[in-house]
Amino acid sequence: MKIIAYGIREDERPYVENWQWANPDVELVCTGKLLDVESAELARGCDGVVAYQQKSYSAELLKRLHEMNIHNLSLRNVGIDNVDVEAAVKYGFKITNVPVYSPAAIAEFGVTQLLNLLRRTKEYQAKFAKRDYRWAPNISKELNQQTVGIVGAGHIGRVMAHICRGFGARVMVYNHRPKPDLVKAGVFTDSLDELYKESTVISLHVPAVKSTYHMLNRDAFAKMQKGVLIVNMSRGSLIDEPDLIAALDSGQVGGAALDVLEDETKIFNKNMANQPSNYPAFDNLNQRENVLITPHTAFYTDEAVRNMVEQSLDANRELILTGASDKMVSLA
Ligand code: COI
Repeated sequence: MKIIAYGIREDERPYVENWQWANPDVELVCTGKLLDVESAELARGCDGVVAYQQKSYSAELLKRLHEMNIHNLSLRNVGIDNVDVEAAVKYGFKITNVPVYSPAAIAEFGVTQLLNLLRRTKEYQAKFAKRDYRWAPNISKELNQQTVGIVGAGHIGRVMAHICRGFGARVMVYNHRPKPDLVKAGVFTDSLDELYKESTVISLHVPAVKSTYHMLNRDAFAKMQKGVLIVNMSRGSLIDEPDLIAALDSGQVGGAALDVLEDETKIFNKNMANQPSNYPAFDNLNQRENVLITPHTAFYTDEAVRNMVEQSLDANRELILTGASDKMVSLA
């Protein structure tokens, strides 16, 4: 059995090598190239492909793999929003993801960035760079005084809620389906409007699907408290960026911590030194002292990377051997 793993980084190699050692029945080929229409040719002769989400997996790419009789695709990440699902169904793909590689990695980073927003660290760094070591006027806020509205009660949203409660914050969790344990704990709401109205911080933990596209837009911001802080560690498409910029300009939104952007593949995980971003909304947001942008790094921890590598390779091998895996995503 032969598997090709695309986009393998140096930090993943030790985990890949360990896995290969433990699975001698697999001939594992690794490439640093990302999976796309051109690099797909490298998969010829393989039974399965492992890749992570950095490019869109288009109908053209899936057709090319299909023509090479490859139908087992395992993603080393959780989101499948880069996959042309219609084409995946048409060409008979089985797709797995790694749904729980480390919810704590993302939630802990979300809280880190929320604390940085509350404690205005970007403003202090800017002052420091100018040798201005005064406190005023950058007075901070405390997390224990906030009402944190968490949108999405999946694994990450739940850890985020747990950590924020540990800090003494009031927490509200919205989910489109009721969650009895959260109802029992008195933190559940089935009303987004209520969450918007009550929260001083809103943190997004839902996938990029049709119903969540630009869910934070002008109308949603208008329903929130003035000066609300927004945390997005999920997907850029959840926020309408021009509307966020307008809400920051008016002060309706008091700050934002963004680990994801709508057009992030233009710039994130690339060395853009001395190059223009060609991404005006990024440039606008990035120069603001109350906006913290990080290049989709919330997931990037030892623990998460090890799980992503091992679990995606396990799932691909299982797909090849048995035609199924408990990590198969529903394409319906
Ligand atoms: C995910 O797991 O979906 C992420 O956002 C991480 C990234 C490597 C694609």
